[in-house]
Amino acid sequence: MKAIAYQQFGTTEVLQMLEQPKPAITSDQVLVKIKAFSINPMDWKIRKGEMKLMSGSRFPKNTGADFAGIIEKTGSSATGHSVGDKVFGVVKNLMKEGASAEYVAVPASLIWKKPEALSFAQAASLPVVGTAAVTAVEKMGKVNPESRILINGATGGFGMILLQLLKQRGAHITAVTSTKGAEYAKKWEAAEVIDYTKGHMLSQKNTYDIVVDLSGKMGYTTAKKMMKPKSIFINPTPQPVEIPLALLANLFTSKKHIVLLSNSESRYTEVLLDAVSKGLDIVINTVFPFTQFREAYQYAEQGGYVGKVVMEISDNA
Ligand SMILES: NC(=O)c1ccc[n+]([C@@H]2O[C@H](COP(=O)([O-])OP(=O)(O)OC[C@H]3O[C@@H](n4cnc5c(N)ncnc54)[C@H](OP(=O)(O)O)[C@@H]3O)[C@@H](O)[C@H]2O)c1
Repeated sequence: MKAIAYQQFGTTEVLQMLEQPKPAITSDQVLVKIKAFSINPMDWKIRKGEMKLMSGSRFPKNTGADFAGIIEKTGSSATGHSVGDKVFGVVKNLMKEGASAEYVAVPASLIWKKPEALSFAQAASLPVVGTAAVTAVEKMGKVNPESRILINGATGGFGMILLQLLKQRGAHITAVTSTKGAEYAKKWEAAEVIDYTKGHMLSQKNTYDIVVDLSGKMGYTTAKKMMKPKSIFINPTPQPVEIPLALLANLFTSKKHIVLLSNSESRYTEVLLDAVSKGLDIVINTVFPFTQFREAYQYAEQGGYVGKVVMEISDNA
């Protein structure tokens, strides 16, 4: 089968189309013929060697974590799924495996039936950012219309889901976006929209119960100034040193620094599927064909778009 992989850490230049054996499945796994997989910032952080401690340095490495496709084979104990089912899912070890191939073998517990209302591209976009968004909502505790929440980077993959999940819970959201994102943030009913490209300063002191930084550029020190005395900062892009430091610092402050590390538990996907049934909007900015993998990653890494970038594999890839 064809797979997008790399043999060394580096820029998009290291990506190659390789011929690999079709994966064999164990009894608890299913073999999925991939129709689409989504691109996440984690893909290029791993590829650039920024997460070596977790990804290891063994090559070749495939890329891409979440996918949608059609079941081609099921293991003897992989119950609940049948050959021909349209599904979406995520690889088991996000740091060491990749879905950037014509087939992937995954545990049956990490795939779910694709809702009819979603395209393969939309379903492939859901697991990584969706479970992260549900985890973030869980970390927030009780959210109500009085909760003042700032989402910095509100219309990327993660932000688009988080903003809508929080609106379904009635929260008051301030969305920070680029100009392109502003109309979407309004459509998803953010109470206030701030365009960061226009140099609008986030200077409101003592305003927010919760600040979520999805840009990776704000940091706790900046966020703290805008936070109420009893509040939380959610950080899904921590530097390794921040993980223990945040835990320690939280013992001495009521402005908590919460490092977010999500995982793909089924209960999170159930929340997402419920949100989909209530009209969750999953915006796909661009779909690239499998053969244009380098262009796709270059485009995604550059940023400046709303929603997700996805790669599709046609039958004659
Ligand atoms: N810890 C976890 O478990 C976990 C899980 C999933 C994701 N993440 C991380 O969470 C982050 C967000 O993920 P994502 O998939 O949403 O990435 P994304 O689609 O690239 O979104 C990032 C957003 O930040 C915005 N942004 C860039 N510069 C900004 C600035 N100076 N001020 C405000 N906003 C700015 C971007 O807007 P423009 O592009 O329009 O400029 C974009 O909307 C990534 O770093 C990802 O690795 C962590």
